[in-house]
Amino acid sequence: MKTAILWDLLLVAQIELTRSAIVTASKAMDNPAILNIHISLAVSTVLLYGIVFYTGQKLTKGNESIRKYHKSVGIITLTTRVATLITSYLI
Ligand code: HEM
Repeated sequence: MKTAILWDLLLVAQIELTRSAIVTASKAMDNPAILNIHISLAVSTVLLYGIVFYTGQKLTKGNESIRKYHKSVGIITLTTRVATLITSYLI
């Protein structure tokens, strides 16, 4: 999972560096509503990765009380990641 998260974050960095995604996105004002939704989902996913990583680390060290939280945050993270992908095709 750590590798998958790192890979995904590198992908975002690569898109931003090679295609100046933020500048391109801010110019694409044809459908600002879906663009705002897409950016919000993408930023939320990166923040959630931080939480899922932190709770996963605690679970690895044997903190069983965090399992429920890790599972919920993990499912929410996967949902926002898939929604980011879907909305990227709608812009
Ligand atoms: C997007 C990333 C991740 C998702 C969606 C995710 C999701 C999940 C889910 C659904 C479970 C099962 C919980 C249960 O049914 O009790 C789980 C278990 C676990 N996760 Fe993650 N996780 C992610 C990242 C990580 C990371 C980065 C770590 C370590 C740093 C980690 C460590 C663990 C551990 C140790 C378990 C318990 C495995 C076991 O019971 O044998 N996870 N995770």
